Amino acid sequence: MKNKQLVLITGVGKQTGIGFETARQLANMNYQVIITSRKQEAADNLAGILIEEGLDLVPMALDVTDETMVKAVAEKIDLRFGKLDVLINNATSFPDKFDTAGVDLIDIKNVFDSNFIGAWSTIKYFTPLLKKSEHARIVNVSSGSGSFSGEEFNLLNPWRDVISAYSISKLALNGLTLKAAIDLKEYNILVNAATPGVTATYEILASFGGRPVSEGAKSIVLAATLPKGGPTGKFFKNGEIIGW
Ligand SMILES: NC(=O)c1ccc[n+]([C@@H]2O[C@H](COP(=O)([O-])OP(=O)(O)OC[C@H]3O[C@@H](n4cnc5c(N)ncnc54)[C@H](OP(=O)(O)O)[C@@H]3O)[C@@H](O)[C@H]2O)c1
Repeated sequence: MKNKQLVLITGVGKQTGIGFETARQLANMNYQVIITSRKQEAADNLAGILIEEGLDLVPMALDVTDETMVKAVAEKIDLRFGKLDVLINNATSFPDKFDTAGVDLIDIKNVFDSNFIGAWSTIKYFTPLLKKSEHARIVNVSSGSGSFSGEEFNLLNPWRDVISAYSISKLALNGLTLKAAIDLKEYNILVNAATPGVTATYEILASFGGRPVSEGAKSIVLAATLPKGGPTGKFFKNGEIIGW
């Protein structure tokens, strides 16, 4: 058990989500996976499902917008495991308004808080643990809708219904990925962004031709399992580097 690589995934609050399926795939690859949800009960229940499948999961409560909580989880992991090998920033919130001028400022702030500052906060507090790993990796789960390429719709080919605050928060997350990759290179920590592509985690996404969650999650898993000395500061989909 002790030789297993340890992964932490944020935003594993739903059985239908990409985070849950990513946890399942990594645990099946012999990783020990800490699944975190902002509700302890959800983390316990979801971990329980995978533990029943014989997988090695640890549930923890983590709201990425709560700095005290992020710090406390980092301390808990340090005490219990002494290191972290892979951090996957998957947590995301979506506002319900799409239009740039129509979206409420409070929604923009909340989206940036969870999708961008939340990821920065986990990078800040978990980096000391990642520095203790032999093969550390950070994967920021991004979206083609916040890029200039790579999806059917993107910032240069916008789709009327792309959620504005969400997409711009992912653009910021991509920028954070690039900067963190440079800063953490000397510690051999690979920092990459990855998009699952349009994935049928919600009915509306299924109606837009979203692919199965197993495929979306695989795209994240491939970025999380890059070999030591692999690429850093890149944007991945399906294991391939795509343009920002
Ligand atoms: N599905 C797609 O087509 C698609 C496409 C491109 C990118 N992505 C990206 O893939 C990732 C997973 O998306 P998904 O479709 O699986 O969505 P999802 O099921 O809604 O998963 C997002 C999870 O993030 C959690 N969350 C929200 N705010 C949080 C916070 N402050 N702290 C901790 N957790 C928080 C939510 O928790 P609750 O359950 O408590 O609400 C939810 O469980 C996201 O980063 C998303 O941007 C998805």
